[in-house]
Amino acid sequence: MKTLRPLVGPSLYLIFMRTRIKYLLLLLLASGISQAQYKEPDWDYRDQWMDVDRIFRMGGITPGDTVADIGCHEGYLSMHLAQTVGKLGQVYSVDVREDRLKKLLEHARIRKLTNIQTILGDYDNPHLPQGQLDVVLIVDTYHEIGSYMTVLEHIRRSLKPKGRLIILEKLKEHARNKSRDEQVRSHTLSRKYVKQELRKAGFGIVTEIKDMGKWEEEEDKTMWLLVAEK
Ligand SMILES: C[S@@+](CC[C@H](N)C(=O)[O-])C[C@H]1O[C@@H](n2cnc3c(N)ncnc32)[C@H](O)[C@@H]1O
Repeated sequence: MKTLRPLVGPSLYLIFMRTRIKYLLLLLLASGISQAQYKEPDWDYRDQWMDVDRIFRMGGITPGDTVADIGCHEGYLSMHLAQTVGKLGQVYSVDVREDRLKKLLEHARIRKLTNIQTILGDYDNPHLPQGQLDVVLIVDTYHEIGSYMTVLEHIRRSLKPKGRLIILEKLKEHARNKSRDEQVRSHTLSRKYVKQELRKAGFGIVTEIKDMGKWEEEEDKTMWLLVAEK
C-alpha cells in the first residue's frame, strides 16, 4: 500500500481504500448471514422452522439419557438436548473448533445447564467415551466429515448395545442427482449415500424420513432424517 500512494495521488488512493473497506465489510456481513442459523440471536427463529422435539422423539431421546451432539457449533441443539435429558442425563457436545465450544459453555452457564460436557474432537475422531451413549446426533455436519467411515466406527464403539445414531441433513434440489463429492462441495448430501455408509459400518436403519420440512423455510432445501441402530 505504501508504494501505491505516491503513484496515484491522495484522492485516488482514498477511493481505492474506501472500496477495499466496503468490500471487506460486505464479505464479513455475508459470512455472518450464512452462519446465522447456528448462532444464538437466530435460535428463536430456528425453533419455528425446525421441529427439534420431533427429531428427538424419532431418535427415542428420553430424560436420563446420555447423548452426544457431534458438530455442535455454539450449541443450539445441545441446549435443547440438555433440557430434554434433564439433570439425570448427560450431553457430550463435540466440535473440532475450540472457539465454538467456549461459546457453547457460555450459553449453558447463562441457562444454568450443568449437564453438558464439551469435547474437542479430531476431524476423524469425536473422542466419545466407549459403550456409554444412548443416542448420538449429527445435524447438518455429516457432509463435512471427510473420514466418515472412521468416525462411524468410533460412534459405533461409543454407543450402548441398541444405541442409536440420528443423522439429519438438508438436500439441495439442484444437487439431487449429483455424485457424493459434488454434493459435499455444495454443502449437501443425499440419504442414499449415507444409508450405504451406515450399513457398511454395521448399523441397521430403523427410521427414515424423507421430508422433515424446509431448512430455514427455503423451498430448495429439504431436510431428511435417518435413525440407525447399533
Ligand atoms: C454447519 S455446522 C452445524 C452446527 C450444528 N449441528 C447445528 O445444527 O446447529 C457444522 C459444525 O461441525 C463442526 N465440524 C466439522 N467437521 C467436524 C468433525 N469431523 N467432527 C466434529 N465437528 C465437526 C464445525 O466446526 C461446525 O461447528
